[in-house]
Amino acid sequence: MPHTDVLDLPLVLLSNRGPVTFDRDANGRTVNRGAGGLVSALAGLAEHLDDAVWVCGAATEEDAVVAREAQGSLLVQTHPIPHVVEGEPDGPSIRVRLVVTDPAAYADFYSVWSNPILWFVQHGLYGRSLSPVLTRAEHDAFENGYAAVNRVYADAVVDEVRARGGKALVLLQDYHFYLVAEHVRRQCPDVVLTHFVHIPWPGPDEWRVLPADIRERLLFGLLGSDVVGFHTRRYARNFVLCASELLGLPTDLDALTITVGDRIVRARYYPISVDPAALDATLASEEVAAHVAMLRYIFLDDDRQLILRVDRTDPSKNVVRGFLAFGTLLDQHPELVGKVSFLALLQPSRTDVPEYADYIALIGGVVAEINARHTKEGRQPIDLRMVEDFPLAVAAYSICDVLMVNAIADGMNLVAKEVAVVNRRGGVLALSETAGAHEELGEFAVTLHPFDTQQMADALYEALTMPMEERHRRLAAAAEQVRTHDVARWLNDQLNDLRQIAGI
Ligand code: F6P
Repeated sequence: MPHTDVLDLPLVLLSNRGPVTFDRDANGRTVNRGAGGLVSALAGLAEHLDDAVWVCGAATEEDAVVAREAQGSLLVQTHPIPHVVEGEPDGPSIRVRLVVTDPAAYADFYSVWSNPILWFVQHGLYGRSLSPVLTRAEHDAFENGYAAVNRVYADAVVDEVRARGGKALVLLQDYHFYLVAEHVRRQCPDVVLTHFVHIPWPGPDEWRVLPADIRERLLFGLLGSDVVGFHTRRYARNFVLCASELLGLPTDLDALTITVGDRIVRARYYPISVDPAALDATLASEEVAAHVAMLRYIFLDDDRQLILRVDRTDPSKNVVRGFLAFGTLLDQHPELVGKVSFLALLQPSRTDVPEYADYIALIGGVVAEINARHTKEGRQPIDLRMVEDFPLAVAAYSICDVLMVNAIADGMNLVAKEVAVVNRRGGVLALSETAGAHEELGEFAVTLHPFDTQQMADALYEALTMPMEERHRRLAAAAEQVRTHDVARWLNDQLNDLRQIAGI
């Protein structure tokens, strides 16, 4: 349980996706808890504070209806059954403020600037010879979309801070909101403000893809914070280098500090993690046991082996090259054909962004080609499932021989950490050197070079043929690392630093 006494301040959280969403079914309004490590870690904190509010986007039509009805924030009890509380809650609850924005502005904010432009710059996905092309439309989308929506959210945060007497701990999350901190700082100079960036932060040259005026606004926006948090030291250093080279500010690369006027802004790194107890409970469920039995029957009879990947269909995940590497493995080791299967559980993601929709089509094409080439006795080597089914994923985690994570870049990659905790078969992590998780787990993994399909094929072969004792040794060490560096620690380390910083 995190200490909740940070400066005895009220808490104002901001993220694009919030801790609950509302929908409608035949029986009326439904309330669902948000999924994922970030939401559960921060919800765990907010639920235990007397005065906390979570500002987030209205993600569904029903969210927007609820937001209009509430005309401000509303209290949602999160356990055991999520519901809106009218009087006193009798269980853990979170105050939520759902922000409704103009749909056209939100589309420019989310589907043009957050994804793809910022996401592509920060994950190094642009080929540069032909993309990006920044036209008047992108400039307008920045002003009328990204900046305008950031302003609406910033105003909501300011409102909530002022309602608490102008002093609060403000925790901003992610690449959607780089312009918020500066605005909040100007309106509420007494806040303690951190902005955590959940995706990679590249060096200055990558940021030069964006015009100077825009990248400077993004950087100065973030520098309204007291602390800018990242998953790894490399990203934190890159941020300090950007402040030095792109803004000309005085910096200290060893101390990871930037001087902005009379303020010191700290870059810090806190690797996000998973909740091992929650994973253990999911693994122990009947639903997972049923999936395990089915997956064993399909993939693991007669000493066969299973490679797994679980990803959103995001170009940064490098799914296409992953399959090309698997095809190379089967070409060069025909004895593995019919012996090794590749199960890919992919969740369609951001399909209204053209680059993402195109990527799904590319994945389908490469899978069809490899399956046509290597089907043996009616058995296709790749089983591609477009599903979002966490119990199924956990079942697959527990019995895979190899997990493939070959991201071009990934802020952290929690799938690798989940597999380390849950796998019971001496599963080998095949982990991209450019995933944040590689800093912690690389020594227990076989390393993948995300652009080198031959290297990845060789690494998969090494993982599949690694002696069982060595596989179990590495897995146990990886599991120990994750269990001792869980998501509660991610949050506590940040709060502990803030206690010191606020002692300023
Ligand atoms: O930090 C990256 C992130 O915002 C995570 O919350 C999550 O992995 C993913 O991107 C979700 O993306 P979206 O909200 O666009 O579906």
